[in-house]
Parts: sequence; structure tokens; C-alpha cells
Amino acid sequence: MKISMLRLPVYLFGLLVLGSSSSVMAEKNTITGPHKHMGVATCASSVCHGKPAPDANSYALLNEYRTWSREDLHSKAYKILFNAESKRMAKNLGLASAHTADICLDCHADNVPQSQRGPKFVIRDGVGCEACHGGSENWLDSHYKKGVTHAENLKAGMYPTESPKPRAEMCLSCHLGTKDKFATHRIMGAGHPRLAFELETFTANQPAHYVVDKDYLERKGQIESVTMWVAGVYYTAKQTLELYNSHLLTANGLIPELSFYDCHACHHPMDKKNWRQTSIEVGLKPGDLRLNDSALQMLIGISFIRDQEAAQGLLQLSRGLHVASRKDIATLRNASKQLLNQLAGMEDMLLRNYNRNEISELRKRILTKSAAGQYRDYTSAEQAFLAVETLTLALDQSERYANLMDSFYGSLASESAFQQTRFASLAQRLLSTMYP
Ligand code: HEC
Ligand code: HEC
Ligand code: HEC
Ligand code: HEC
Repeated sequence: MKISMLRLPVYLFGLLVLGSSSSVMAEKNTITGPHKHMGVATCASSVCHGKPAPDANSYALLNEYRTWSREDLHSKAYKILFNAESKRMAKNLGLASAHTADICLDCHADNVPQSQRGPKFVIRDGVGCEACHGGSENWLDSHYKKGVTHAENLKAGMYPTESPKPRAEMCLSCHLGTKDKFATHRIMGAGHPRLAFELETFTANQPAHYVVDKDYLERKGQIESVTMWVAGVYYTAKQTLELYNSHLLTANGLIPELSFYDCHACHHPMDKKNWRQTSIEVGLKPGDLRLNDSALQMLIGISFIRDQEAAQGLLQLSRGLHVASRKDIATLRNASKQLLNQLAGMEDMLLRNYNRNEISELRKRILTKSAAGQYRDYTSAEQAFLAVETLTLALDQSERYANLMDSFYGSLASESAFQQTRFASLAQRLLSTMYP
């Protein structure tokens, strides 16, 4: 597992991180808005965000460019399209080259349509400032002036990156996909890494070019890490259901889009039998292919802390989804529509901040399920681990449980050697230590 590698030192050492065709182009990139992207060069001058060190006289650090260009992989996202891995992928897919193909540029650069590119915009900047913060056409000249409020910036088209739901939607547009850009199993088959994402962990792992200090809190308010995590899980579940509409049955004839399923359902050695009881529990038959519902499962767990009835509803509908997935596309679409309606009704309840009691209850629940073997496949176990880690950090207990958490993480270190029984027994150890 790659995601937690960077995060790992955070609790290991007890340090807290501060925190493709051009005809459809017009519809693309609507997430951060319709404004022109003026290019990283317009943000990066030495009097603006390109200072060599943080500026004590400004509320922003003003060395954001340095952090992004030196430490943040987003500044390398375009460059890696020239590496051997990308070249091989392009060859396998029959593309002229990776760095000219929309199918790659859509996630590895700020690939807005020509009409949205300002004079200093260059595609080689990769995932630049405006890919996340929105086109600065209408706020570039005003956003730094004295007296201009954050609300006014947002009104002029700055994207609300601080806010959990919009942040989830923006990050996941590349880290999960949208109807316009999607890392299909064909792309994975050509050699693309599996996309694994968890909003709070990835937020912590992106080298921070901002500090959440007193004046930040005054301007933007306190955003709880647990709420950020829930927003990521919520949006992943929702967006995955939406993506069934555009991508589950597309151009592959008899074969559905395989990246919606648990990768390790197929990619596992034949001598390691699983007897996936949990799939049978949700209404599947032995040998059936199970949709990857790791985000949905996590959301059911979260809901049980707040609203038993809504959680039961979600649980029933998620079983309905699995049963429908064995039938036909119309039944599946209907089941996912029902789930989307149920989720819409639960959004406000789920995205309210969580108190210590709830956080602890939630962690206990996830550990109990993990110990009982509920998260059998690698992707669900990975999400469960990340949840326990985020919740433990939020409870300020990561130093206290560092050793046990390290072993728990260790059980996920290799996707191909993942043993769910080991994962479960380590969860049991954590459970009995944390909740004696
Ligand atoms: C839906 C968005 C999406 C699409 C489409 C996509 N990628 Fe990626 N790609 C990503 C993300 C996100 C990562 C980082 C994964 C991670 O580390 O979690 C990534 C990682 C990679 C990596 C590994 C990077 C590293 O540092 O090791 C390569 C190479 C790559 N992509 C090449 C390509 C190529 C070539 C294409 C086009 C054929 C492509 N990608 C299409 C989103 C996408
Ligand atoms: C991958 C997405 C991403 C990229 C790329 C990115 N940022 Fe950010 N930026 C964020 C997030 C997330 C935050 C924290 C939430 C917030 O305060 O809006 C943030 C915060 C900021 C802040 C707010 C600081 C404060 O105190 O309010 C500034 C200024 C900023 N970024 C500038 C830049 C600049 C300049 C670049 C390009 C050199 C850049 N960002 C690139 C996501 C990104
Ligand atoms: C325009 C597409 C895009 C957006 C939007 C985006 N990312 Fe990424 N992200 C990528 C790609 C592509 C990579 C892989 C880059 C590479 O390896 O060179 C990546 C890499 C990362 C990594 C490093 C992963 C690793 O394996 O080390 C983190 C962390 C990350 N993104 C977090 C975020 C967060 C948090 C947000 C939202 C605030 C976000 N990203 C928004 C495309 C995007
Ligand atoms: C229904 C079964 C199934 C599922 C689910 C599935 N795959 Fe595959 N995968 C295959 C088959 C079949 C091939 C082609 C095998 C071959 O060429 O030998 C393949 C090929 C691949 C390859 C190329 C392997 C190689 O050696 O060339 C990669 C990488 C890959 N899949 C990744 C994934 C990822 C990541 C997921 C989950 C997002 C996934 N697969 C889900 C069946 C599946």
C-alpha cells in the first residue's frame, strides 16, 4: 500500500503534520468553475507566492510556489508522463504519446479547454495552483488587497478548497474520476497504479503550503479532521454510484468496467482460498464478482453512530445493490438511484462535526468489524486502517498506540501478500488494548 507510507512517520515519530476527445472538452473541468486559468507563472512571482521563505507580514506564507514545485508531487504530475512507465502505458494503449493524450492530461495537468487558458498558462505546469484553487481570471488582481474578504474571493470564482465537501469533490475528480475522466481497467491493465484515496490522509500527505493558525481559523473556520474524512468517504460512495451510470457498461461489450470491482477478487493466487462469507451475506453467490463497496461500508459504520434507522436503510439498500449487480443494468441503475437518494437525505447528519465520544465509538465499531472479519478484501481493510488512524490522531492517542498501529499497518504493506486473518487478529489486539 502506497498511501500511508508518507503518513506513517507522522505517528511513528509522534510528530503532527501541520497541518478524450476534444469535443467533450467544453463540459469538462466544471468543478472549479468556468473562469480563465492564468497560469502558475502569474502566481509565482517573487512579490507574490514565489518568496524563498514564509513571509511574517502576510496571512499567507507566500512561499507556496516553492513548496509546490519542490515537494509536492502535483508539480511533477505532467513530467512523469515522459517516464518509462508512462511511455509503456501509452504504447500499450496505442496512444501517440502520454503527454499529448487528453486521457492522461485530464488528471496529470490542468487540462482546461483552450478558451479557459490565459496568456501565461502552460500545460507543463502539471497540477498547478488553479487546478485546485480555480481560475483566477476575476480574482487575481483583487484577492491580495487589504480589506478583501475570503467570501469576496469565493464570489469572484476562487474555489472553496477549505470546505470539506467541495474539497472532496475537487480532489476526487482526479483521485477517483468523473464521467469525463476515468482511469478504466484498460488503463490499469496498461500499467497504471490502482487509485487509492482517503481525503484526510491525502490532505495530510500533500506537503502543506499553508498553516492553520489563529488568523487562518478566523478567516476560514475550524475544519475537523474527522469531518474531512467523512466528507471524503461520503463523496467517494456517492461519486462511485454516479459513475455506474456513465462507465459501468460502456464500450467493453460483454465485460463490465472491471475497475468498479474489488481488484483482488480476480488478482489473487489460486492456492489462497478466501471463502468470502461476507459476499454471501450481502446476497451474492459463491464465485460472484463483488462491486467494490468499501466507501459505502465505511459510511454505514459511521451512520450507525448517529442515526440507527438511516444506517439500517443504507445497509438494506447496499445489499440491494449487490443483488441487483447480478441481474441487469436497469435493476442496478435503479438500486444505485435509491442509494443516492438515501445518501442525499443523510448528508447533513453525516457532515456535522463529531465529538470525542462519537469518535471513540466510531473507532470501536470499525475495530470490532475488522476483528470480526467484516473487511475481508484489501481495499476495505485499507479504508478501515486509514479510518482507525485518522480517528486515533483526532483523539490525540497516536503516540500511545504507535507500536500496535505500526503492526496493524504492517498487515497491509503488501497487496499481494495480504492475509485477512492477520489483519483481523491485529484489529482484535487494538480493540482489547484501546477498549479494555
Ligand atoms: C482519473 C485520473 C487519472 C487518469 C485518467 C490517469 N491518471 Fe495517472 N495517476 C492518477 C493519480 C491520482 C495518480 C497518483 C496515484 C497515487 O499515488 O495515489 C496517478 C499515477 C500515475 C503514475 C505513477 C506516478 C508515480 O509517481 O509513480 C503514472 C506513471 C501515471 N499515473 C501515468 C498515467 C498515464 C500515462 C495516463 C494516461 C494513459 C494516466 N496516468 C491517466 C490519475 C490519473
Ligand atoms: C492539489 C491541490 C492544490 C494545489 C495544486 C495548490 N493548492 Fe493551495 N491549497 C490547497 C488546499 C487543500 C489548501 C488548504 C485549504 C484552504 O485554506 O483553502 C490550500 C491553501 C492555499 C492558500 C491559503 C493560505 C491561507 O492562509 O488561507 C494559499 C495562499 C494557496 N493555497 C496558494 C497556492 C499556490 C500559490 C499554489 C501553486 C503554486 C497552490 N496553492 C497549489 C490545495 C492546493
Ligand atoms: C487535476 C488532478 C488532481 C487534483 C485536482 C488533485 N490531485 Fe492529487 N495527484 C494527482 C496526480 C496525477 C498525482 C500523481 C503525481 C505523481 O506521482 O507525479 C497526485 C498525487 C497526489 C498525492 C501523492 C500521492 C502519493 O502516492 O504519494 C497526494 C497526497 C495528493 N495527490 C493529494 C491530493 C489532494 C489532497 C487533493 C485535493 C486537495 C488533490 N490531490 C487534488 C492529480 C490530482
Ligand atoms: C473480473 C476480474 C478482474 C478485476 C475485478 C480486476 N481485474 Fe485486472 N485484470 C483482469 C484480467 C482478466 C486481466 C488480463 C490478464 C492478462 O493479461 O493476463 C487483468 C489485467 C490487469 C493488469 C495488467 C497485468 C499484467 O500482468 O499485464 C493490471 C495492472 C490490473 N489488471 C489491475 C487491476 C486493478 C488495479 C483492478 C481494480 C481496480 C483490477 N485489475 C480489477 C481481471 C480483473
